[in-house]
Amino acid sequence: MRLELRATTADDLYAVSRLEQPEPIARWLAGTGIAWHRAVLADPAQEHRLVEHDGRVAGFLVLRDGPRRSLELRRLVVRAELHGRGVGRALIRATLARAGERGLRRIVLDVAEPNVRARELYCAMGFVELELPSPFVAFEVLDGFRVMSRTVSGRRPRAR
Ligand SMILES: CC(C)(COP(=O)(O)OP(=O)(O)OC[C@H]1O[C@@H](n2cnc3c(N)ncnc32)[C@H](O)[C@@H]1OP(=O)(O)O)[C@@H](O)C(=O)NCCC(=O)NCCS
Repeated sequence: MRLELRATTADDLYAVSRLEQPEPIARWLAGTGIAWHRAVLADPAQEHRLVEHDGRVAGFLVLRDGPRRSLELRRLVVRAELHGRGVGRALIRATLARAGERGLRRIVLDVAEPNVRARELYCAMGFVELELPSPFVAFEVLDGFRVMSRTVSGRRPRAR
């Protein structure tokens, strides 16, 4: 599948926010809707990028600068009809490439415990669970969420 990654603009936000509306997806995300995404676009510490397929938004990701040269993969969502076709994997590879370009060392994310599909994907992409508290985690970790991390180089992360 040919995917094009580009920066998200304000005109994309309606399509983007629709991807995260179906349950249980919305339940696994802390904050949804156009206003949430608008705040991301306005924040210089965050990047909002999307991929298109056949002229429609196929998925998007939100990245936020974290402590100690880490990058938080704050959100990753793929359009439901395209699940299982490698779009999620492609977006994680794009995240690793972006972190590499910027000289960052580690990707960190949190994932809801029941979100097995996402957890499997992160494991398959080399993420491991991070013990908390961690110097790489500046965001609030809600009950029922796990934090996972991998180094950009692919070397096994140290516990701290
Ligand atoms: C999680 C999500 C981003 C995965 O995207 P995707 O495009 O379907 O993922 P891919 O097609 O790249 O799948 C890659 C891996 O995910 C895992 N996976 C895919 N479908 C799965 C399923 N039904 N059950 C369990 N694991 C699954 C597998 O490890 C798969 O690897 P494989 O293709 O070698 O078997 C997507 O399901 C999604 O948007 N979910 C809703 C939003 C969400 O939960 N985001 C994550 C928040 S932390």
